[in-house]
Amino acid sequence: MSNSINNQSRNEGDLMSPVLDDEKKALGPFELKDAKPSFAYRLYQQGCSNSWFPKEISLAQDKQEYETKLSDMEKHYIKYMLGFFCTAESLVANNITHALYKHINNPEYKLYLLRQAYEEANHTVTFLYIIDSLGLDRQEIFDMFKTIPEIGAKASFEEQFTTDIMSKQEISERELFKNLFGFYAIMEGLYFFSGFLIGLSFGRRQLLKGIASLFQYILRDETVHLGFGMQAMRQMIKDNPNLITDDLQAELVAIMKQAVELESNYAEVAMPEGILGLNKNYYLQYCQYIADRRMGALKMDPIYRVANPAPWLATQTDLPELVSFFEATPTSYESRV
Ligand SMILES: [Fe+2]
Ligand SMILES: [Fe+2]
Repeated sequence: MSNSINNQSRNEGDLMSPVLDDEKKALGPFELKDAKPSFAYRLYQQGCSNSWFPKEISLAQDKQEYETKLSDMEKHYIKYMLGFFCTAESLVANNITHALYKHINNPEYKLYLLRQAYEEANHTVTFLYIIDSLGLDRQEIFDMFKTIPEIGAKASFEEQFTTDIMSKQEISERELFKNLFGFYAIMEGLYFFSGFLIGLSFGRRQLLKGIASLFQYILRDETVHLGFGMQAMRQMIKDNPNLITDDLQAELVAIMKQAVELESNYAEVAMPEGILGLNKNYYLQYCQYIADRRMGALKMDPIYRVANPAPWLATQTDLPELVSFFEATPTSYESRV
């Protein structure tokens, strides 16, 4: 690993880069006993304290509402949402276990990634629970990344970040940063949050409240995942101010633009007509707003410069227990992630 981080960063206390300079740590024990807990270790503890299980929430009422109160277009969207999420959760888990984990040698980061991988599995099981509870066809939903090109395109786009590094023995910091950007800033930070916009909108309309509750549990987990990935990238930038070259920044901007374009294409088929008072333009504006927030959190210029069309959603992501990890005062978590 080129430009790996000096162990002295451990003495600075709280923040450490994902890659330390002792290569033996890649296969060594976690050695937590002497380490001052880093943000990654505290997020691991946060993840554990957030534990939940999908069947704690009954979806009996949701099934009744799905059959009697939802429009055909709303049902259509639900299927597309499930089709994307049940694939995406697996892709995140695959990226951790097949690619990212082996290139990280900071023990606290590795610990956190193990916790995150479990949570992604729990999310996959949650979507399976929703599919079964609504009486939908498992095979149809799980195959949508193959049968719906716009879902497949998002999946392929993300898979590329995994395949770029999974077969390599060593990667550069630039390659690691791009993987984190693809999975944390975009998959978790853009695609999941845009999915939450609609999922939670049902709950706001007093519909599918059980599913909306499950989405809130998932959102809580994903917010921690996002915080982990974004903090890891910020630490890499802090430790190596030359990391984000003009060339890399241009590449990241192009990647983010492609991600938003793929999401726009997905919205075109997932919600060809407005649902819940939302339409494609509203959805796209939210995606653009979120994309700019992720760029800004990495100290890069915004691309779209649009207002947040869904400020109500921001309040649901301002989790006080997470704010304390990143903020000295209990201000908005949204402003940092
Ligand atoms: Fe997840
Ligand atoms: Fe996640």
